Amino acid sequence: MTARTRHFLDLDAIDAAELRVIIDAAAAMKRGESGLNKPLEGKFLAMIFEKQSTRTRVSFEVAMKQLGGEVVVLNSNDLQLGRGESVADTARVLSRYVDCIMMRTYGSERIAEMADYASVPVINGLTDSTHPCQLMADVLAFEEHRGPIKGRTVAWSGDGNNMAASWIHASVKFGFKLKIATPPELSPDPALLTWADKNGGSVELMHDPRAAVAGADCVVTDAWVSMGDNEASRHNMLAPFRVDATLMGAAKENVVFLHCLPAHRGEEVTADVIDGPQSLVWDEAENRLHSQKAILAWCLQ
Ligand code: CP
Ligand code: NVA
Repeated sequence: MTARTRHFLDLDAIDAAELRVIIDAAAAMKRGESGLNKPLEGKFLAMIFEKQSTRTRVSFEVAMKQLGGEVVVLNSNDLQLGRGESVADTARVLSRYVDCIMMRTYGSERIAEMADYASVPVINGLTDSTHPCQLMADVLAFEEHRGPIKGRTVAWSGDGNNMAASWIHASVKFGFKLKIATPPELSPDPALLTWADKNGGSVELMHDPRAAVAGADCVVTDAWVSMGDNEASRHNMLAPFRVDATLMGAAKENVVFLHCLPAHRGEEVTADVIDGPQSLVWDEAENRLHSQKAILAWCLQ
């Protein structure tokens, strides 16, 4: 890694102004106003998946190809990584072949190691701890429908998982208020709340979903069982945090609903909410493509 390598690892590590540039570039690309001249022609992206994926897998490939680049998709079982070669050595070798590496993995230390040893930009495609690419798509979706997110209120109801962590990062970087309701046992890492506090954020942790959604412009949730989680007892703990029409009715009148997908209707969200008029989930999913085109261009240009 050189001092100038532009990794996209986590939102807390990137300047707010840079993140705004990426969102604005994504919106311009979505409108067809830029990115049309194959700016990444001749560039290769390697994507490493140690966990499953639909959206990240497909949207990154289409993003790279629309910008004129090429992709190599690698499942960990196909790689020597899957039988014990180190992340560091994988990073050194891939850096000799490709211009950028996207990785989806378990522990965040694996993506950090990839970035430490790669000489090309590394993008975090989800870890157990965070999912920063998703947040860029989410902010874009909110702003397309409701205008600037700065100063607005977002409520999280559910597991204090990787998505909740990236929402905490985003709330500080994009300047919105975040109210998080989780079961006490599934609270986000207290270090995230301390970080938000120190950085002028407005993040409140509570355990009552109705209190969280009061005054909210946006309600968000995610799966009760994330990849790599142990299912036992989560459903009972999380049932009171299900997003249903009654909970949405306790938020602001023009509230919108976001969910990174995949969704489990009847678990974290009811079908009438996710398939109803307040839901932005399909635009949100589409925005993975536009926001990742902007992320790739930011990393590679
Ligand atoms: N939201 C998201 O990252 O979806 P995939 O797991 O399908 O990539
Ligand atoms: N929290 C979920 C997000 C999936 C995109 C998981 O990690 O499985």
